[in-house]
Parts: sequence; structure tokens; C-alpha cells
Amino acid sequence: MASAEIGLIGLGVMGANLALNIAEHGSPIAVYNRTAETTQKFHANAGALASKVMPSTSLREFVASIRPPRPIIIMVTAGQAVDQQIATLRPLLSADDILIDAGNANFRDTVRRSQEFDGSGLAFMGIGVSGGEEGARHGPSIMAGGTRKSYARVERVLTGIAAKYKSDPCCAWLGEGGAGHFVKTIHNGIEYADMQMIAEIYGILRDGLGLEPAAIGEIFARWNKGRLDSYLIEVTAAVLAAKDSATGKPAVDVILDRAGQKGTGRWSVIEAQNLGVPAMAIEAAVAARNLSALKVERQAADKIYGIAPARLAASDRTALIAQLELALYAGKLSAYAQGFAVMEAASREFSWSLPMATIARIWRAGCIIRSQFLDAIASAFPESERLSNLLVAPEFVARMKESVPSLRKTVAEAASAGLPVPALSASLAYFDSYRQGRGTANLIQAQRDFFGAHGFERVDQSGAHHGPWHAAG
Ligand code: 6PG
Repeated sequence: MASAEIGLIGLGVMGANLALNIAEHGSPIAVYNRTAETTQKFHANAGALASKVMPSTSLREFVASIRPPRPIIIMVTAGQAVDQQIATLRPLLSADDILIDAGNANFRDTVRRSQEFDGSGLAFMGIGVSGGEEGARHGPSIMAGGTRKSYARVERVLTGIAAKYKSDPCCAWLGEGGAGHFVKTIHNGIEYADMQMIAEIYGILRDGLGLEPAAIGEIFARWNKGRLDSYLIEVTAAVLAAKDSATGKPAVDVILDRAGQKGTGRWSVIEAQNLGVPAMAIEAAVAARNLSALKVERQAADKIYGIAPARLAASDRTALIAQLELALYAGKLSAYAQGFAVMEAASREFSWSLPMATIARIWRAGCIIRSQFLDAIASAFPESERLSNLLVAPEFVARMKESVPSLRKTVAEAASAGLPVPALSASLAYFDSYRQGRGTANLIQAQRDFFGAHGFERVDQSGAHHGPWHAAG
């Protein structure tokens, strides 16, 4: 009976695709879904892979069909559903079985769940899986967290189903407890920033230059052959080229300008704030999504203020488009630097030793932010020492120096035309603030001391000091 190598619970889109991917790569897999009908349908539609899939309609039978120690992937909606699933499954498990949450969990839940398993003889892993439906089916990027021992048990299956960059599997063990889910969260935060900056450039091309979606799509398609080569640029080009079948209009023009979100972007901002690490482009991207949701309010404000000047005074359109390409590149570099800096701080805070070069390597294929650019990031991280910030990696200094003037010009021109570029300008502000040896927080220190006697540090002496603000006089 016990012949499956691994089990999977939750045959929603991601779970079903992951299960087929596992079966295709040779591992017999036991599957279970709360609704028996879903399980039966999944098996019936598994085609040639059906012989590798062992469906069960009871949890007990499901557990019994997996060879111990049993790795069991849980792929249900993040949050309470995971806890409920664990609670019903746990009494059926035996020593050394491993529960693997492969959903988009908040890493704090993963830490808590791992602790709840401590000393129980059972193990818990939290793995981040990126790549959407298509990735789950044909090769996702897998960010594993948990004990090394648990990872060793599932490494063969996970690396087998992961995307490959050249022949390198995009799957790695990143650390104990919540490490995998934390890295996945930051992946999504970077994804938010990437998407928002692309949308801002689209806004400049649409409203600033008055270009039609198809023409903008061609620009993105061209950029996808150069330094911006990435899945998100490819997706953008494809989306802009598509026509709505009902109206014949460009698809993007019949889509409401109000984007949803499931929480990972927001979590990355919250965690950056908790760690005291600036992640301005990611923060701006999440805020922009929140603002997008205020459709009715925005329409009302539009009536009050009217539209901004919008059109850019572009005498040389080709030069402007080249400038936008470089601007997006600089913005992207700054945003990735922010995301990696958050992970660096988290690694210290939670004693994970997150392997930054490996993270960049397993993001080169399979995941939503996959790109050539991540290969350069992977080489920028020294294997043996820590790098304080990607912006100071020798590989990136020249690229930043080359591209930042275009970002600056773009932000300035967009601001003059009243075109919102929150994430691009946040990326620029991050760069400008980060590379400023002498900032302006001396004034903040003085203000705090003035109204709250908080004290300040001096440039020429150690210790805490107070200013002469309230001297009798
Ligand atoms: C991935 C994606 C995936 C998903 C997000 C979208 O890596 O495969 O990031 O996790 O697309 O859930 O998140 P929002 O709904 O918050 O945009």
C-alpha cells in the first residue's frame, strides 16, 4: 500500500500542477483534496501520469499510501486553512514524517508552526514556490526552509521538479524555520516594485507620449532582448499586444485600473519596517496598489483637479525611449538592492545565514522575477563575505553610474508633466540618500533634542549632547 514517495494535499490550481510536475519527474505521489470529487477528477484527467498518482478520499488512506518517513506537501490557502489541515493530519502521522507548507505563508506563521513541531518527532518545512500555475507544472523556483535533515529527505524530488537555469536547478535550502517563506515574501516585494516601475514607464509612454498599447508592446518586446530581458518585461509585451475578443480593443484598455493583492507585498514592507531597513521602492509599489484601489475617489479628484499636463515635451522620441529603458534599469537595480538588504538584515536578526548568491541563482529561472539580471546579481555577491548593499558591488557601480542619469531625467520630466512615478522616484530617492555621505539627519537630531531633550551625537566628540536651544537669553 505504502508506495508513494510523497503526498500532496490541496488540489487547487497550484497544488494540482505541482502534483503533476512531481509525477512527471518520476515520483509516485499520493494526493488528497477535502472535496473527494476534486481528487477523482484530478486523477481522471491526469492522462499518462495517472499511474503515478495515487488518489485517496480519506486522509487516513492518503497517509497510509505514502512510504515513511512521509513528506507531505500542504497546498491550501495561506492562513487558518493551513493550521486546520495540520490539526487534522497530525494525529495520523508517525516519527520523522515531514509536513511541508508550500503556500504563500507569512513567515511568522511558519516560525510558529515549526516551533509547535519541535520535540514532537515530526518535522515542519515552509517552502516558497514561485512561478504561478505554469511554473508549478513545468518548473518553479523553490525556496526551502526547515531543518537540513528534512530538506535532505525531499531534495531529490524538489530539485527534480524545479526550473533549471542552464542545467542548475532553481531550488535550494535557505535556512531553518521561516527562512524559505521569508525569502519568498521578499521575492514578491521585489515583484511588486518591478511590476509597478514597468507600469509607470507604460504610463509615461501612454500618457506622456500618447502611444497606443501595441506600439508600447513593441517597445517592451525590444527591451526584452537587451539589458531588461526578463519574464515580467516579456509578459508586459504580450499583454500590450493582446486584443479583447469581445470588443476588438487592446485588452489592456478594457481592464480596470485597480489591482488586487494577496498580502505578500505588504508583508515585505512590514518586515522591512520591523527590521528598520529602508525598502522605499517596494513600499511605494504597495502604496501604489493601495491607491489604485481608490478608483471612485480618484475619479472624483480627477473632476476637481482636472488632468495634469501629461504630455512630455519630447523632441527626440527615440532618445526618450532609450532614456526610459535605462531609467527602468536603474530603478530595478535600486529596488533589488533594497530587497536584498532586507534579506541581509533578516538573516542577521533571525540567525539564518541566508545565502544571497544562491538566492539570486535560484531566482534566475522559474520564478516571476526571473531574468538575466539575476545572474549578474548572483555573481556580484561574494561567496565568502557579506556585501552591505548591491549598489556598492563593483559589478553594479558602473551600471548604476551609466543608468542613474536617465532615471533622474525621467523622474524629473514625469514630475513636470504630472505623471505619477512613485516607485521610480522612490528608487531614485533611495539611491540618492544611500550614496550621500553627509545627509540631513543632523537637523532631525537637533529637532528631537529641542522638543524632547532626546540628545544628539556630535561630529567631533563621543557621547550624548544637548543643544543650546533653551538657554536663557
Ligand atoms: C509567484 C507569485 C505568486 C502570485 C502572487 C501574486 O511568485 O508565483 O508571486 O506568489 O502571483 O500571489 O500576489 P498578489 O496577488 O499579491 O499580487
